[in-house]
Amino acid sequence: MILQRRNRILRVSPAIRSMVAETILTPADFIAPLFIDEGEGISTEIPSMPDYYRRSIDLTIKEVKELWELGIRSVLLFVKSKDELKDNTGKEAWNSDGLMQRSIKAIKEAVPGIYVMTDVALDPYSSYGHDGIVKDGQIVNDETVEALVKMSISHAVAGADMVAPSDMMDGRIGAIREGLEQNNFINTGIMAYSAKYASCFYGPFRDALDSAPGFGDKKTYQMDFANRIEAVKETLMDVEEGADIVMVKPGLPYLDIVREVKNAVDVPVSVYNISGEYAMIKAAAQRGWIDENKAIIETLTSFKRAGADLIATYFAKDAAKLING
Ligand code: PBG
Repeated sequence: MILQRRNRILRVSPAIRSMVAETILTPADFIAPLFIDEGEGISTEIPSMPDYYRRSIDLTIKEVKELWELGIRSVLLFVKSKDELKDNTGKEAWNSDGLMQRSIKAIKEAVPGIYVMTDVALDPYSSYGHDGIVKDGQIVNDETVEALVKMSISHAVAGADMVAPSDMMDGRIGAIREGLEQNNFINTGIMAYSAKYASCFYGPFRDALDSAPGFGDKKTYQMDFANRIEAVKETLMDVEEGADIVMVKPGLPYLDIVREVKNAVDVPVSVYNISGEYAMIKAAAQRGWIDENKAIIETLTSFKRAGADLIATYFAKDAAKLING
């Protein structure tokens, strides 16, 4: 056979493969989500997320130092609020001495360089486990947005670098931007969960924070997974309202959306490799059905190839170690 073009030439050895690789992961691509608990010396493994822990602030700081040493530059904070602090207004969310606010301060003090992002939504503080305030069985939009603005400002006061609204209420990005401006937080960013779908894959996360909805589901605010064009509408509106980074979530079943959004916007795009995706890889690896390390790198590379500039992932630490060798 005489062939004019042989594609296998560029695959013949590790050297040439690494020379022509189109997508290269680095630890700075990752955002490490952290679950934070009250107390001291506490580290609780999440049953549906093997090897992932909810930690008290002291042990969280230790973890952040390790992440920083590995080259990870950003963390995304979630807190588990005590049941007695939950109500329908979610007011614990903007308590200046709340667990989130104390965590932000402690982390920034211990590792000043780390870029601290914070989840903004009412679900960990809501007696109903919903992302917003409930009235007559409905999640009310505009009152919730007012609460989210207060919550975001309290995070900025505590020292957060970027707030990450994950609630999917309409108009919240513009309102939060305005609130930050009015309070002179001109360097505080917004990473908008813009295309966030109502997904069954959030299950393990809700175990981690004990935040499952007490009634119904989240389909009146999170997006229908049947939709693609709507993701473009949501992200373009968030960019217009002042989002600095837009996010697609979940990740793996939504790679088409990542690419669609990447092609549509002029801001960085992030993707959230969520709890259920983590659990699936862990479960299969525990049974010896897949090679965990290879699955991690292949999965994370697929996000970047799809167009993600940043990847929030529970595998951040493992992947950084693998990349650093
Ligand atoms: C809450 C929030 C959720 C996640 C991030 N922020 C859960 C939900 O919307 O019910 C999910 C993250 C994950 O599954 O890893 N607003």
